[in-house]
Amino acid sequence: MAKANDILRNPHILTTRPAARTPVTRRDAQIKALAPQKPLYVFDPVRLAQSYRRFATSFGGEIAYAVKCNPHPAVLQLLAEEGIAAFDVASLAEIRAARAAAPQAKLFFMHPVKAPEDIAAAYHDYGVRAFVLDHVDELYKILRATELAQDLELFVRLALPKNGKAALDFSSKFGAQPEEAAVLLEACRPVCRKLGLAFHVGTQNTDIGAYARAVGVAADVIRSANVTVDVLDLGGGFPACYLERTPSLNAIFREIRAAVLTHGLHHMELMAEPGRALVADCMSLIVRVEQRRGDLLYINDGVYGGLFDAGPSLRWRYPVRRISRDKDAETGVTTAFRFAGPTCDSIDMMDGPFMLPDEIKAGDWIEIKQAGAYSQCLRTDFNGFGDAGFLVLDMPGESPVKPVKQRKQTKQ
Ligand SMILES: Cc1ncc(COP(=O)(O)O)c(C=O)c1O
Repeated sequence: MAKANDILRNPHILTTRPAARTPVTRRDAQIKALAPQKPLYVFDPVRLAQSYRRFATSFGGEIAYAVKCNPHPAVLQLLAEEGIAAFDVASLAEIRAARAAAPQAKLFFMHPVKAPEDIAAAYHDYGVRAFVLDHVDELYKILRATELAQDLELFVRLALPKNGKAALDFSSKFGAQPEEAAVLLEACRPVCRKLGLAFHVGTQNTDIGAYARAVGVAADVIRSANVTVDVLDLGGGFPACYLERTPSLNAIFREIRAAVLTHGLHHMELMAEPGRALVADCMSLIVRVEQRRGDLLYINDGVYGGLFDAGPSLRWRYPVRRISRDKDAETGVTTAFRFAGPTCDSIDMMDGPFMLPDEIKAGDWIEIKQAGAYSQCLRTDFNGFGDAGFLVLDMPGESPVKPVKQRKQTKQ
């Protein structure tokens, strides 16, 4: 417990709650033995398999993993081994990555504004048949690039009202307004084999009612279009567990099923494009403390590396844990820390607060948990700090870790 004197001497001590003692595990021992000088991702395949199975058994529709969230070959490979049948891809690079891991999988090219050459290559070279659009110009582009193909599956992306309970709203950049979406559905119907309506409620959506409301908007659009729509694509946005309370996936799926019934859409095929909910908790990022100044820890990764979400735009609070370099005793006092990243840019700051044992010091490592989503794929080489290592955990929990060749991650 922090005493009053401690707090006066050390004003950044925010809580007097005893910190959970940093457990000394075999895994920590492995990390200490490796003594990583660069940021290090630790991948737990068992966790990824569990997340996928949980989603697959309770969702009740087709799952197209959103490759952008974490395109690491080990992730794609494991999902393929688990039997995932589809991927949501946004570029030719993602198409190639998905094809390499799962040659037979169905690919949905879900970027609403695509290069004509990429559409042509996707269709002719990679067997992609499903494309999204939110504007009539994109429809013409798809028809031209595929030479009026007769086997297209077209999805109209619908814009939704702003969702204040998502970490990032996804309807301000892409998506047709409901009236335009209805017109697009009518235009697409005669030129495609299968027709879908897609939306995205915003990433890390914590509003349990958001999908049900979106299904309501979609139902209105389908009614006013007055054409047969085969597929309802619920997009991504399913939340992962960080520090804030989030509704369970099962509760969200129940809401979706109820809304689909209420709005009379139960005859439609259902699909989703989850990213974060599948991969967030399968990776941790191990960073090293390079210097401590009071409550500010200078660490070796940051906003231009794997911690973009923790920076000024999203202010994400990842769960964190100290891995101490020495066998020093911890008093149990937890302190609210901020992080500074390694680059010279002052945007490279993360306010947290990140609750860590007060004894933390230069040379210690921090395990940043839930770093499987939108971390590795966003790394840049700015200031020369792009390198990150990658380890595959053989077994969950206390298991030893198996080193994999260090990879240089660059922005995709
Ligand atoms: C079209 C589309 N689908 C799915 C996703 C995945 O979203 P999430 O990671 O929130 O599940 C995204 C994220 O950007 C997206 O743009």
